[in-house]
Amino acid sequence: MGKHKYIVQLVFYIQNNLEVHQKTISLVVLNIINGLTIHSMKKRFNVLVTRRLHRSALEELEKKCNVYLHSGKIPIPKKNLIDKIKDVEGLICHPYDTIDEEVISSAENLKVISTFSVGFDHINIEIAKSRKIKIGYTPEVLTNATAELTIGLILDVLRRISEGDRIVRNKKWNQIFGAYDYTGTEVSGKIIGIIGMGRIGREVAKKANGLGMKVIYHNRKPVSKRLERMLKAKYVSENTIYKNSDIISLHIPYNNNTHHLINSKIFKKMKKTSFLINTSRGKIVNEKHLVTALKTKQIQGVGMDVYEVEPIKKDNPLLKLENVVFAPHVGSSTKETRQKMSDITAKNLISGLEGKRLLYSV
Ligand code: DGY
Repeated sequence: MGKHKYIVQLVFYIQNNLEVHQKTISLVVLNIINGLTIHSMKKRFNVLVTRRLHRSALEELEKKCNVYLHSGKIPIPKKNLIDKIKDVEGLICHPYDTIDEEVISSAENLKVISTFSVGFDHINIEIAKSRKIKIGYTPEVLTNATAELTIGLILDVLRRISEGDRIVRNKKWNQIFGAYDYTGTEVSGKIIGIIGMGRIGREVAKKANGLGMKVIYHNRKPVSKRLERMLKAKYVSENTIYKNSDIISLHIPYNNNTHHLINSKIFKKMKKTSFLINTSRGKIVNEKHLVTALKTKQIQGVGMDVYEVEPIKKDNPLLKLENVVFAPHVGSSTKETRQKMSDITAKNLISGLEGKRLLYSV
């Protein structure tokens, strides 16, 4: 329809202006041809979005793309994902969508995957890259939110806040009325051992300083001396961090090397008075071993935002233990951060589809 409009305009113009100076006609013809080219370049991309995004991000996408927003069961069932991904050039996914080899192989036209997360262990990166699919993610914007939740879990499990909440709600306050019946552990002065000194680990270190904790850390390699001074953090060996920390906090990605990194051997090294905090990925901790460690008092408590299976199964033995603080995988879930994540996810996708650099690419 649009192309016809330009051609009719061209014929009409030539018919009516044959006597006009030759140069002017050539110029007009050139402009019309340019118009035709731009018109045919404006291609709309087909994209699949597996979960609701902020309105503003969806609106940005809709300007340039035909958006298929999955609205049924969460996460999108694999069958639906495979059916739908065949038709699209772009995918916006979440950590609960498994973008494995089977899914990628059925995505014949896929050019960009943009995940609404900093973690990308749910995507088979190797296969995607071998297919020249660009991958976008959302680091930085969620650093503070995740570090805040980490600190929240530390305060909660050490000071027994949620446990106290249950006691009050269940009308059992009178049972802990004595001066020594319900004591927590003071956070100030404790040693926090940060495993993984990336963006989130560093932010936790800063906030831990503010609470009067001493920071030690273990990483693939030490950070710069300048940063160590700034964070008041001391690099230690893997063995030392487990042995000396009052709180172990995990800030590493999940992969083959970190699968069940925290297991019975590690719990045996840890202080009996120590706590474990996990806001990274559930499968880094062997949950079966964790249950034993908690029951046999090898460690004192745990604060968790992530689990081996999410949502957690109803019969998970952790649910029966008092010295566990649960959060439902909400490290980045603040209004402020989720808005930013939405916008970046959409921008990453559009940039990739238009052949531009992604804001954040894996
Ligand atoms: C992430 O971004 O990887 C968080 O776990 C949020 O889901």
